[in-house]
Amino acid sequence: MKAPKPLVEIVATGRWLPERVLTNADLERMVDTSDEWIRERTGIRERRIASAEIGAADMGAEAARIAMERAGVQPGEVDLIVVATATPDRLLPATACEVQARLGASNAAAFDVSAACSGFLYALAVVEGYIATGRADIALVVATEKMSAITDWTDRSTCVLFGDGAGAVVVRRSTNGRGILSHYMRSDGTLADLLWRPGGGARVPFDQVVLDERLHYVKMAGREVFKAAVRSMAEAADQALLRAGLTSGDIDLFIPHQANIRIIEATAKYANLPMEKVYVNVDRYGNMSSATLPVALDEALEEGRLKPGSNVLMVAFGAGFTWASTVLRW
Ligand code: ACO
Repeated sequence: MKAPKPLVEIVATGRWLPERVLTNADLERMVDTSDEWIRERTGIRERRIASAEIGAADMGAEAARIAMERAGVQPGEVDLIVVATATPDRLLPATACEVQARLGASNAAAFDVSAACSGFLYALAVVEGYIATGRADIALVVATEKMSAITDWTDRSTCVLFGDGAGAVVVRRSTNGRGILSHYMRSDGTLADLLWRPGGGARVPFDQVVLDERLHYVKMAGREVFKAAVRSMAEAADQALLRAGLTSGDIDLFIPHQANIRIIEATAKYANLPMEKVYVNVDRYGNMSSATLPVALDEALEEGRLKPGSNVLMVAFGAGFTWASTVLRW
């Protein structure tokens, strides 16, 4: 299959990470765990934690500001802001509206996409559709997560995994053959209760029982999620390559969702991509849900791992379950 002509491209990226670092040694003092266990099972050494007064919109707006400055885009030029988040500042209104207000993007539509760790790729696909069909010219995709706010800090099986942070990209119509070559998205809601927050929404409204049973925090069946993540990310990698008319040999950089180094290594092996071509920062940030991919993309660019013409494969998996992939020509 011939590679499709890209219609839409990412023109600039930005990231914002809280300064406070929580190390595995810090966690050893909070729950019954060890640096060795965490590193061996997950590859994580440390993660960032946002302070109490910082929310998802604050972090997302900072990342977006950096991306807009690099793209030379003024707030009034932005048509569309799509925020991917599993940690909205409030259940109502959308965090995207709070980002819109902070940026002063007075001409932008704004809404959230809820697809957990796959959120960035889901949001990018939505924005691609708007721009490709001429319904928007300049859009922001912002992925921002304050995972520390939905983490049960007494549950050692989950609290060692997550971190806070935000990434953003400016998206426009493609020029010079750069841009999005393919997308693939899937879901399986029958497995929702393997990774979820059971209480605090409309179905089980927040009350004393939710509070006492800690149902407003993330619950996860780690082993089942692990297996589903590897299986789904492998499928997603295959499908994005197929749809882009490429093979793994054509990929210059693979950026997988950063949840666990063992999931990353297994997915890379399945996709036939050597670890030298894989971007990894899970050791420094843990799992920042939807924010992992744009933060990694921004860092990879800064480190010179992407050149004009590089082919980038991005793959994600998250609660829902949702999974998604995309191939970009940089
Ligand atoms: N420290 C020490 N021991 C621990 C810890 C901890 N932090 N957490 C669990 N254990 C213990 C368990 O109690 C268990 O003890 P037992 O054998 O006496 O019962 C033992 O370690 C093994 O537990 P498992 O859960 O089987 O360990 P596993 O090897 O599966 O690793 C992990 C757990 C790291 C959570 C793994 O399952 C995993 O990474 N799953 C995927 C999680 C993930 O990536 N989720 C997010 C993806 S989607 C998204 O990003 C939203």
